[in-house]
Amino acid sequence: MKPTYIPEPFRIKSVEPLKMLTRKEREQKIKDAHYNLFGLNSQDVYIDCLTDSGTNAMSANQWAGVMLGDESYAGATSYQHVIASATEIFGFPYIQPVHQGRAAEKVLMPLLLEGKRYAIANMFFDTTRGHAVMAGGIPIDCVVPEALDTSLRVPFKGNMDCKKLVELIEQYGKDNIGVIIMTITNNSAGGQPVSVANIRETAKIAHKYGIPFMIDSARYAENAWFIKQREEEFKNASIKQIINECFKDADYFTMSAKKDAIVNMGGLLGTRDKAMFEKIKQRCISFEGFVTYGGMSGRDLEALAIGLKEGIEEDFLKYRIGQLEYLAARLDEEGIAYQSPVGGHAIFIDAKKMLPHIPWYQYPAQALAVALYIEAGIRGCDIGSYMLDRDPVTHKEQEAQFEFTRLCIPRRVYTQAHLDIIINALVAVKKDADKIKGLKIVEEAPVLRHFTGKLELLK
Ligand code: F0G
Repeated sequence: MKPTYIPEPFRIKSVEPLKMLTRKEREQKIKDAHYNLFGLNSQDVYIDCLTDSGTNAMSANQWAGVMLGDESYAGATSYQHVIASATEIFGFPYIQPVHQGRAAEKVLMPLLLEGKRYAIANMFFDTTRGHAVMAGGIPIDCVVPEALDTSLRVPFKGNMDCKKLVELIEQYGKDNIGVIIMTITNNSAGGQPVSVANIRETAKIAHKYGIPFMIDSARYAENAWFIKQREEEFKNASIKQIINECFKDADYFTMSAKKDAIVNMGGLLGTRDKAMFEKIKQRCISFEGFVTYGGMSGRDLEALAIGLKEGIEEDFLKYRIGQLEYLAARLDEEGIAYQSPVGGHAIFIDAKKMLPHIPWYQYPAQALAVALYIEAGIRGCDIGSYMLDRDPVTHKEQEAQFEFTRLCIPRRVYTQAHLDIIINALVAVKKDADKIKGLKIVEEAPVLRHFTGKLELLK
């Protein structure tokens, strides 16, 4: 069956030109960037799949909102609009805007980990892991084992391993654990969804032991779409009802709005605890700005208030996930392995399978990302042993659970023809895969090294 492409539920009003360099130029550009894709200039990239974060195309309505943004320091109407949209969607009594997801983590994590040692998540995203470490905590991943087999097609590979969670709590002691986090969708496991049943069970365990339960909700709308498709109980529910079901047992939520709220900048932090909200506001004022703007300009707040609603529209989500499903179906035809079934925001190519001759400590997923850039100017990134920082205690290199080259699809930005270019590039790289070389790190920061690290190609 020919893979289907769900047509865009919009037409295009504004465009940005793209230009493709020659292969020789790209070889030089990536060398100059020390084989770190974050070091490339955007004009040297043809299709930018580095992230789906803040790279989305806003709607005409959102741009109209930008003009209406209220830039008052205190009490702006745009702030009120964000709170109204977010309260309607998440149902939390106390919500604080912040400038992006990691700002929410910076404000909240030290409060949750004060006097505690551990934080447990289905899987931490890199910044969340970094903030847990910087707050003096030890982050522990507790994803279901099915997630580790990229060829296993099960519906909710992002889930928490609840049996292991209980064992970890018993082992480390409930009083030493500051927070249990559910990342929806589970980015580090391949944008894999988490079921409502699993959220309910995890919340129940957390509350039984008196541990706060938090949702890292960067891609909560995509998660809700998967629940509607895959969890029997919710097949007739609206996206809003599903979201309500996901958040009702959570004590906190953090959100990078740069993903599912389809904006270029923004974040949210929610709590149900009034005393904690007071502390959050104080930290927010110190780090982000006054509570009614939280590090954002009024125009960004306005775009966020509108984007929150657009991001949960069913037509949009159907097309959005449809793009990923189209990519995945085409890769199946070509025999290219990825974390399957495909997740919400990106295709996670299994670099271990594509480059079996490169060991983990020579960063196969980074090597594949470099090769794709050289092949067609496509910029992806490593979600593997290069991205995983050294062990915070022993400072040794750590082998990641996966070696993924992540190719994100920004929302409402690229067309079917762009997706075909990505597929053709992967096919071409696979053909000559045995010629691709591993990498070594020559310079690295102690935390979040993948952003600024410098690498060299091995001979
Ligand atoms: N949580 C998750 C699950 C994320 O994917 C991200 C960011 C964050 C938190 C932090 O949010 O960037 O707004 O500060 N992920 C981006 C990515 C950067 O490319 O996956 P932020």
